Amino acid sequence: MKSKQQRGWTVWLAAVALLCAPMFAMAEAGDIKCLKCHDETNKPGLHILQTPHGMIGDERTPFAKEGCASCHGASLDHADGDKDNRPAPDVTFREADASTGNAQCLTCHVGEQNTHWQGSAHQRENVACASCHSPHAASDPVLDKTMQAEVCVTCHVEQKSAMVKPFRHPIREGEMSCSGCHNPHGSTADAALAKTTVNQTCNMCHADKRGPFLWEHQPASEDCTICHSPHGSVHQAQLKQRGPWLCQTCHMANFHPSTAYSGTGLPGASRPSGAQQMLAKNCMNCHNQVHGSNHPSGARFTR
Ligand code: HEC
Ligand code: HEC
Ligand code: HEC
Ligand code: HEC
Ligand code: HEC
Ligand code: HEC
Ligand code: HEC
Ligand code: HEC
Ligand code: HEC
Ligand code: HEC
Repeated sequence: MKSKQQRGWTVWLAAVALLCAPMFAMAEAGDIKCLKCHDETNKPGLHILQTPHGMIGDERTPFAKEGCASCHGASLDHADGDKDNRPAPDVTFREADASTGNAQCLTCHVGEQNTHWQGSAHQRENVACASCHSPHAASDPVLDKTMQAEVCVTCHVEQKSAMVKPFRHPIREGEMSCSGCHNPHGSTADAALAKTTVNQTCNMCHADKRGPFLWEHQPASEDCTICHSPHGSVHQAQLKQRGPWLCQTCHMANFHPSTAYSGTGLPGASRPSGAQQMLAKNCMNCHNQVHGSNHPSGARFTR
């Protein structure tokens, strides 16, 4: 009769065998060797087996090919080394020249979202795929709308401060992310925008501003960022400047007074006539269709 302890062992071994079945399937791939030391008790853990990269049934994945070696290189000297003499793996993704690690990823990820990687700002500035991606995490934070921006703003401090301004896109709320407007792998547009022009990018979500309008407002059909700060602003509606000053950067000499409006003329001051151009929605009190109008008599964007 088996002792209680022996029975315990039998159950334990059966459980291990079951749990390890996928790993044994990789034995041919030689990963067992790596996993001998890099098991679940060690960084980085085995979470990678739960990700799309771990899908052994998908013949395109690393674990259907050479396993750990698909990314880290064969690393035989490392695996066969000992405590006192263990050379680094062939590829650690910490190399000073990011292109070494990137080349591993690009053996599989050519085309599609990476079509414009070569020549992109990130590629030119030695940014690694692994600066943004964490293939060992069960869920890669940069692919998660609610966590992506945290990854980006480790480097982009200007956008980090814009993100906390009072008027901004709902990024911190997780409703959208930087990649709503940008392709982090590069694009043919300036600032790696997701679409060819600023307006096409904005209009993916703000379709009501797309036009064509019967009466176009030239700056609005040209470039939304003439008036808006896409990353955030201290002014309402993410405007770059408050009205009426925003409008007056271009409209000074029309039949409205051709001098710039200032703080004078508010109710109680000596020139109450200026008030309607200053208060509440200022110029937009009357010109409330600044993005363009489809009204037959909307030439002045008043309707
Ligand atoms: C005999 C144990 C052992 C085996 C087998 C082994 N490693 Fe390691 N590995 C280590 C230890 C210990 C470290 C800790 C870093 C060090 O000081 O070398 C490490 C570190 C690493 C690192 C991090 C290196 C860095 O500089 O950030 C990677 C990547 C790695 N191993 C990959 C692999 C791969 C891939 C295999 C299989 C080809 C493998 N290891 C096999 C023991 C092992
Ligand atoms: C899809 C490519 C890919 C595969 C496959 C892969 N790794 Fe990694 N590994 C990376 C990248 C990228 C990093 C560096 C960034 C990070 O830690 O996420 C890394 C980092 C590591 C580290 C260092 C972690 C640390 O925090 O210091 C070890 C150890 C490691 N890998 C071992 C392995 C082992 C063992 C396997 C096989 C079970 C494996 N890797 C499979 C891409 C991969
Ligand atoms: C051996 C080929 C191969 C290598 C090497 C490889 N990948 Fe992948 N990767 C794949 C496949 C296949 C998928 C699954 C794609 C799919 O489902 O359409 C994938 C998926 C991904 C995904 C999406 C993951 C998700 O959770 O949806 C990311 C991000 C990614 N890879 C980044 C990387 C990075 C970064 C590297 C280098 C560190 C790398 N890959 C190396 C083949 C590879
Ligand atoms: C600047 C950060 C950054 C860098 C650098 C980067 N990526 Fe990405 N990657 C992202 C983000 C963000 C997404 C999600 C895009 C989206 O939501 O449209 C993504 C998506 C992906 C996907 C598709 C995931 C899916 O949806 O199936 C793959 C594959 C991928 N990246 C591979 C790579 C490879 C390979 C490299 C290096 C050549 C790389 N990435 C460099 C941020 C980055
Ligand atoms: C490891 C640091 C790093 C990370 C992480 C990073 N970037 Fe960058 N990014 C840079 C550098 C360096 C440049 C080039 C200099 C600059 O414009 O600031 C750049 C440039 C850019 C540009 C301008 C592109 C152009 O063509 O002019 C955009 C847009 C951008 N990054 C978006 C992102 C997004 C979105 C993320 C997160 C998904 C991200 N970055 C993550 C370092 C980083
Ligand atoms: C609503 C769309 C939108 C979102 C969301 C967005 N951007 Fe941008 N970004 C733009 C536009 C448009 C530009 C072009 C330059 C400009 O007008 O500021 C730009 C430019 C940039 C640049 C280049 C700046 C320069 O001075 O050349 C970087 C870097 C950048 N964005 C990073 C980010 C990061 C990081 C995030 C997420 C925290 C983010 N962006 C979110 C629209 C957006
Ligand atoms: C991925 C979708 C998406 C894209 C692309 C996008 N936006 Fe937005 N935008 C939103 C969301 C969501 C809100 C918040 C709406 C709300 O709270 O009602 C918003 C809000 C705004 C607001 C503030 C509205 C207010 O009432 O304060 C302005 C202005 C704006 N966006 C301009 C732009 C500009 C300019 C671009 C292009 C550079 C752009 N957006 C691209 C989704 C997007
Ligand atoms: C000539 C300056 C100007 C340009 C260019 C401009 N806007 Fe606006 N936008 C404004 C003003 C002013 C407001 C505030 C309107 C108000 O208070 O009634 C506003 C408000 C908004 C709002 C929030 C209120 C609403 O009407 O939904 C969104 C979203 C918006 N703009 C998107 C865009 C997009 C997208 C573009 C490019 C197609 C763009 N804007 C171009 C001046 C401009
Ligand atoms: C970047 C410069 C610029 C800014 C800023 C600007 N506009 Fe305009 N606006 C124009 C141009 C150019 C036209 C076309 C003028 C023409 O056709 O003679 C125009 C036309 C107009 C018209 C119709 C006038 C006409 O003669 O057809 C009105 C009304 C108007 N803008 C109001 C505003 C208001 C209100 C604001 C502030 C929210 C504003 N504009 C901001 C450049 C600008
Ligand atoms: C009290 C209402 C009101 C306010 C406030 C107002 N406007 Fe007007 N604006 C008008 C009317 C009415 C017209 C003429 C409309 C028409 O002819 O159909 C006009 C015409 C214009 C024109 C066209 C001028 C031309 O020569 O045809 C421009 C440009 C303009 N306004 C800009 C502005 C700017 C900039 C502000 C803010 C500083 C502003 N308006 C504030 C009512 C207003």
